[in-house]
Amino acid sequence: MEKGKVREGDFEEVITARDIGQRVIDMGQRITQDYAGETLTVIGALKGCFMFMADLVRAIDLPLHVDFIEVSSYGDSTESSGVVKITKDFKHSIENEHVLLVEDIIDTGLTLNYLMEIFELRNPKSLKIAALLVKEEKQKLKYPISYRGFNIDDDFVVGYGMDYKGFCRNIGSIHRLRDK
Ligand code: PRP
Repeated sequence: MEKGKVREGDFEEVITARDIGQRVIDMGQRITQDYAGETLTVIGALKGCFMFMADLVRAIDLPLHVDFIEVSSYGDSTESSGVVKITKDFKHSIENEHVLLVEDIIDTGLTLNYLMEIFELRNPKSLKIAALLVKEEKQKLKYPISYRGFNIDDDFVVGYGMDYKGFCRNIGSIHRLRDK
């Protein structure tokens, strides 16, 4: 955990890099089959998605565009408030395009509820969600998750793009914060 600058013992590994890699390849193959013959626009929600996004698009064998949107949640710092501000938007139109929205983790689902509403207003041909991690028990997401990596418990998780106070994003596997 040196990379994460987090004291050894605070976190424990819950999903190995090998398991992530295999699952992401499976997801990419399913996406490739589902959109066969089409062109795809893959849009990641920064920052947490960056590592998953990089691996997922390499596992998709289709002509595709890559873009990113950055959002920040307001309100309570440990729980998403559902009030979301777009801090970096993408420039090109997604009208009449097949859009895949990529998230590293769906916690309450409130960020995605907001993003999906915004994206639908831009009239894509289709709009689906791919998420690596999903916390089922907290789910308030109003949209189906078309491609999901793993269901996880309601733990604070870091690594593979996800942070703890800005650190740990460069760890290749996923760790949970141990119960105090
Ligand atoms: C995380 C994650 C999602 C959001 C999910 O982002 O990447 O965007 O929280 O939470 P929700 O389902 O409860 O809305 P975070 O705010 O940690 O920002 P980051 O991706 O820049 O680290």
